[in-house]
Amino acid sequence: MLPLPDRGLWETAPEAYWKRLREEQFLLPSWRAYMNNGSLGVAPKPVVAAVENYLQRGASLVGHEYPRWGYELMEEHRRAAATFLGCAMENLALTHNATEAMSFVAQGLDLASGDEVLMTDQEHTGGKGAWLLRQARHGIRVRTFPIPLPPRDSAQLVDRILSAVGPRTRVLSFSGILTTTGLVLPVRDICLAARAKGVITVVDGAHMHGQIPFRIDELECDFLAGSPHKWLFAPPGCGLLYIRDEMLDRLWPTVTTEAWSARQLKAARFMQVGTNSRAVLEGMVAGIRFAEAIGPARIYHRIHQLARRARQQAADFPELELMTPDDDHLFGGLVAFRMPRSLFERFAPKAAAAKMWIYGSELMRVATHIHTRPEDVDQFFTLLRESRKG
Ligand SMILES: Cc1ncc(COP(=O)(O)O)c(C=O)c1O
Repeated sequence: MLPLPDRGLWETAPEAYWKRLREEQFLLPSWRAYMNNGSLGVAPKPVVAAVENYLQRGASLVGHEYPRWGYELMEEHRRAAATFLGCAMENLALTHNATEAMSFVAQGLDLASGDEVLMTDQEHTGGKGAWLLRQARHGIRVRTFPIPLPPRDSAQLVDRILSAVGPRTRVLSFSGILTTTGLVLPVRDICLAARAKGVITVVDGAHMHGQIPFRIDELECDFLAGSPHKWLFAPPGCGLLYIRDEMLDRLWPTVTTEAWSARQLKAARFMQVGTNSRAVLEGMVAGIRFAEAIGPARIYHRIHQLARRARQQAADFPELELMTPDDDHLFGGLVAFRMPRSLFERFAPKAAAAKMWIYGSELMRVATHIHTRPEDVDQFFTLLRESRKG
């Protein structure tokens, strides 16, 4: 790994520290303002190097392992991820992305016709698709309920979700951080309350790890799907599935080999999916090491500081309908607001000309990460201000 800027610099001149870190550790050119980690993150140089090195090493066959995964247990990689995420390695399977992990859960649970899966009205297509498939194929019922945007507080969210649970509800499937607006849901409170009602909880955590601090084993969820290629510096094609002990034997594998019934493999039973590129997993571990070397608390602090800067500026525009609440617990590095169509149409070409990579249209979602510069955030709002005039 390239040496990081000195920690002393962060203490004395944090802006200089983050500027150097972006310049030295990322391949991003200075002209690019990338503010769409919500869709896909940016792999820093050590991650790209780990992928390249492994491809070379794998092709040279100087080692004794197959340069692949899909039949192996990948304990080293899983341990690195599990330590970072705060769970036991035995409960963690590596997948290709969160969509696959969510599909494994939705396809693998025994549910009968008429059983209900409850979800918010803000779920990502990758988190809800497999439930909808089962509705069409097996007659389960998918029911959604609205999330208030913005909510009053966490308690209102828990209340809204739990009061939607009905007598046929078997599963509650929801995002820990909503893709639409970046709202952080009180996952632990929701999961505890759902369990008290005998409801299985499936958390679409695609946006969680790397964006906000948490430990999976404190969330009390039954399943959690992840995408470390969003906020955790992994190369594209890295996913995670956490399975709580009690669920390891209840979940049927979807993609499998003869090891489908090897229950002693625990979560690794869900990784027997045939030949895959191990190089991306080397990249995933390098991403975790990168995050650990900088420090997850420091990363979160920076991401959130920049998001707050975005929120504050958005609040100065009376024509924007802010979706992000003021409460620090309810957002991490994503800020969302609605803007009038005419304003967006004037803004979009200006943002494109400024090489700003953002996500959204009238509903705009700004993502901030450690490679985001304060000037990127400020420029966004300068352009928006200029777009008022046409
Ligand atoms: C909440 C949520 N779930 C799932 C996904 C899908 O992630 P992936 O493409 O890694 O499967 C996304 C992607 O934006 C998301 O926002």
